Amino acid sequence: MRRKLVAGNWKMNGSADSIRKLLQGIREGAAGVAAVDLAVFPPFVYLGLVEQQLSGAPVAWGTQNLSEHGSGAYTGEVAGSMLLDFHCTYVLVGHSERRTLYGETDDLVARKFAVARKLGIKPILCVGETLDEREQGVTEAVVGRQLKAVLTLEGIGAFIDAVIAYEPVWAIGTGRTATSQQAQDVHAFIRAQLAAIDPAVASQTRILYGGSMKAANAGELLSMSDIDGGLIGGASLDAKEFLAIAEAGG
Ligand code: PGA
Repeated sequence: MRRKLVAGNWKMNGSADSIRKLLQGIREGAAGVAAVDLAVFPPFVYLGLVEQQLSGAPVAWGTQNLSEHGSGAYTGEVAGSMLLDFHCTYVLVGHSERRTLYGETDDLVARKFAVARKLGIKPILCVGETLDEREQGVTEAVVGRQLKAVLTLEGIGAFIDAVIAYEPVWAIGTGRTATSQQAQDVHAFIRAQLAAIDPAVASQTRILYGGSMKAANAGELLSMSDIDGGLIGGASLDAKEFLAIAEAGG
């Protein structure tokens, strides 16, 4: 049985003040949603604050990105080993905003995934098609290609303990959620790709849905058999809303 994971991707939002309040709200409510795993993904600079406020709480944390390099002359980058200093459990790799705005390729994303695993940080591999790609009927080809880049580099064993987030790009921050059936279909496709290589790994890999998920639609999405949680952007900036989403999955 896969435990659901509800993860908040805060993106480039917040201030020390607002994040303190948000963390306080999450901390206070987290015990009430014990059936679901929780995690938050702050901007790098607030990691210390997050670690401090969440230590001892049933909420994990991680970052939205990491460098593919170990250390050295890479101005502006953050190494995976630095995330360990802040006891990060997870790291997002290949978020569509990284892919589209910062030119991250499938190969680069796969290398970042590998770096995270090597350090013992659980990667959350984000995949998903654009509106154009969906309309052209190539959703499975795109998601399959994104997945294959990691499978080719790391093998199926890489998905033991890793997480996949299916986030249709057209649903991110648009208020336009995939229907639960649209999401379920892609989740089932992803699981089938893994199962074709190793059914045992496929049955334990958590596949999250992301894209305008909120308390009002979470119950339906999270009731689908292959949807194992959510990666929440906008709605994760409000502690009540974030916890209500988690409750819907419990
Ligand atoms: P959204 O973002 O919930 O604001 O659509 C999801 C994400 O990008 O992870």
